[in-house]
Amino acid sequence: MTSNEIRQSFLDFFSSKQHAIVPSASLMPDAPNLLFTNAGMNQFVPYFLGERESANPRIADTQKCIRAGGKHNDLEDVGLDTYHHTFFEMLGNWSIGDYFKKEAIEWAWELITEVWKFPKERLYASVYKPGEGDPAEFDQEAYDFWKAVFEKAGLDPEIHIVFGNKKDNFWMMGDTGPCGPCSELHVDLTPDGDTKGSLVNADSPYCIEIWNLVFIQFNATPEGDYVPLKAQHVDTGMGFERVAGIMATSKNFTDFSTPPSNYNSDLFDTLFQEFEKLSGHSYQRTLPADLDNITDVEMKDIIFRVLADHIRCLSCSIADGILPGNENRNYVLRRILRRAVMYGRKLGLENGFFANLVPVVVNQLGHVFPELAQQEEIIKKIIKSEEDAFGRTLDRGIQLFDKIATDEGEISGLNAFTLYDTYGFPLDLTELMAKQKGISVDTKGFEVEMEKQRSKARASQKKSDILVADSDSALEATKFVGFDTMADEAELIDIVEADDAAYLVFNQTPFYAEMGGQVGDTGAIEFEGAHFQAVDTIKDPNGRHLHKVSGDLAGIALGQVANLIVDHDRRKSIERHHSATHVLHWALRKVLGTHVRQAGSLVDNQRLRFDFSHFEAIKPEQLALIERLCNEQLLANCKVEWFETPFDQKPKEVMAFFGDKYGDVVRVVDIGGFSKELCGGTHVRGTGEIGLLKITSETGISAGTRRIEAIVGDSLYSHINDIESTIAIASKSLSTAPNELLKKIDVVLARNAELEKQLKSFKQKASGNLADDLLKAAKESNGLKLVAAKVEASDPNALRQLGANVIGKLEEGVVLLGAEIKGKVSVVAFASQGAIAAGYKAGDIIRETTAKLNGRGGGKPDFAMGGAANVADLQKTIDAFSL
Ligand code: ALA
Repeated sequence: MTSNEIRQSFLDFFSSKQHAIVPSASLMPDAPNLLFTNAGMNQFVPYFLGERESANPRIADTQKCIRAGGKHNDLEDVGLDTYHHTFFEMLGNWSIGDYFKKEAIEWAWELITEVWKFPKERLYASVYKPGEGDPAEFDQEAYDFWKAVFEKAGLDPEIHIVFGNKKDNFWMMGDTGPCGPCSELHVDLTPDGDTKGSLVNADSPYCIEIWNLVFIQFNATPEGDYVPLKAQHVDTGMGFERVAGIMATSKNFTDFSTPPSNYNSDLFDTLFQEFEKLSGHSYQRTLPADLDNITDVEMKDIIFRVLADHIRCLSCSIADGILPGNENRNYVLRRILRRAVMYGRKLGLENGFFANLVPVVVNQLGHVFPELAQQEEIIKKIIKSEEDAFGRTLDRGIQLFDKIATDEGEISGLNAFTLYDTYGFPLDLTELMAKQKGISVDTKGFEVEMEKQRSKARASQKKSDILVADSDSALEATKFVGFDTMADEAELIDIVEADDAAYLVFNQTPFYAEMGGQVGDTGAIEFEGAHFQAVDTIKDPNGRHLHKVSGDLAGIALGQVANLIVDHDRRKSIERHHSATHVLHWALRKVLGTHVRQAGSLVDNQRLRFDFSHFEAIKPEQLALIERLCNEQLLANCKVEWFETPFDQKPKEVMAFFGDKYGDVVRVVDIGGFSKELCGGTHVRGTGEIGLLKITSETGISAGTRRIEAIVGDSLYSHINDIESTIAIASKSLSTAPNELLKKIDVVLARNAELEKQLKSFKQKASGNLADDLLKAAKESNGLKLVAAKVEASDPNALRQLGANVIGKLEEGVVLLGAEIKGKVSVVAFASQGAIAAGYKAGDIIRETTAKLNGRGGGKPDFAMGGAANVADLQKTIDAFSL
């Protein structure tokens, strides 16, 4: 069977068992604590927890998964073996409170043995048996069903059922969430197929787990409890590449003589053909016999596997809008990409090769995951720009690495950090290179250097100490009432004194505290008899709003009530810029593509600044379109609404970009139905309030990240007024009306050019005249003429021009000219051939002259120039020169 046939027959099989076939979810996870979608069940978590109802109680699909950098991390194994991947497809079937262990086990057996015809005697099932301290009971039920299945096949359950504790047979998506005991199906792939279960879970490539059937019964809580769920569910996951690899290697179970490998399936054929073409190496199917001593051919085979894995991973993640970048999941991708580029170098592949592999992946998987085909061009561009950025420092980085390795025989923490910081080498890449050279890397030392950099960055943010203080569970977050009002009464409950100021804390407040890019509010705080100006509002780690004030606090006491009045105009201006940021974000994604992701934002009353992922400078016509789309939405005066919702019940299309930071309940801001973002900030009620939007700059701030600045509303109004008054002043200076200004400027420029031309010709003439005067005053000695004079010149070039003029007219002799230009001495000397023959070289003359004047200079025998500081002695020195 081909891989396409295998995938399709899995889906057809479960369709025949009344399962709804659904598309793969995005690799961008919905759950707050995941780096990537790492299992088919991720998208069904709310169903398992009973938070939402599924339209179908039976579902099946093929799910894109990435297991790199998180709880399930397979990155380090990729390439070294033949069955781990960062990216893979997981075929799965689910029961949402519907069928349970019996059907799950019987259907798995039916598909594997009846439809696909795996040899039954090579199959082993594992069953959960808790070890010491492990949750739940021995899975007697699963055992009984497997027993029946094996007995019916005439196989001994004592041999074909093995037991595993929590480590192998209790599946959890992360540290928390739905989980339960599982049964795995393993296949014996040894030539004789008679290992009797001894290789199950023994990390042997000859006995591989192909399918995991999880019986979801519990919810793991952050406190470490396993709370039974109301309903029981089935969650299965099959390693698609593994099954395809096994069928391909064994030629549909007819030949077990060669070692199994996922890479033998047709899924990797076209990629490997491409590598063969590019590198001239043909894949030999070797595995490293000794990891400390990898042969050349083994290395090339490893690289084939790594590149094939990594390009699939990068293409699919970018198609889902997860781009290589500097933080979190984005950095995991950047690391994977850089590993690939590095490995590619080892095969002699040129910069750009990796991006060129994208079409091969699209050809292979585009019909299964349509977003790949839709985003092909963007994926290529993003990978190419990453390759270019890394390529710029890679060679120098490798040189430095080699030098350190040779000179020092190890990579110190500082050197590893330099490689990271200056040359873009992720630590694991440095470790990989070091491993290949058999030297060590001081990773602890690296962490120390990293921490130093982080604290420097923190210090440079100039935040008050209270902001980095540890949280204190006794302190309650301040109730924020500022979404609905800008003035309210509140009771003073604490005063936090810091070096620079004091901070007042109230039981509630309308003052927004700096968060999510929106600056804190300012305003008045009025106690009876004591008034303060709050110059900023920030949030401490407990969520308390700290109102920064200065002045004498003697007149106030805890428990006193104050009127808190936000600076209304400033806040309105901030809100305009904040809502405009959402509209801009929407327009950016519309014009540039859905790969655009917020990477940072600052919103104040003067402007908005928005950082986002994009791989190249935005073209002027795109920028114009973005601005126009934004303004259309502002003119349409769309409604701005917000509501709170549990994170996992937020509308599907809501953009949640900093997944890891969201709490259970999130706030959704909906602008006109076209923009829905998670956001805790304050906003206008209708986009019409924003006024007009103008983009003021677009720049790059790091590889793959761009920055846009824009202004709206009253800021833009002042900006336009400034421009108008500049135009008015310019018009007045040029004695014209503003609408005639451009014409007038053209006239002035043309006149200016004409005058420049005239001036130049006057200067030439004057220089000629001056040259003639100087010639007249030439002195003669021994058949050589000397012109030595202090002259006027506007710049050193004019002086040189004059000297050239004179020597041209002098038959044989020397010219030495000096001038004071901008408070400094400039000198030039020329010598004719005759003068040079007589021993007068321009270079020497200038050296001697400038030396006397506290300067330097030199040149050739026929022409030299110099400069000096001593203006006072210039005349004297020139006069003293003689032949
Ligand atoms: N969720 C299970 C796994 O990923 C099926 O192995």
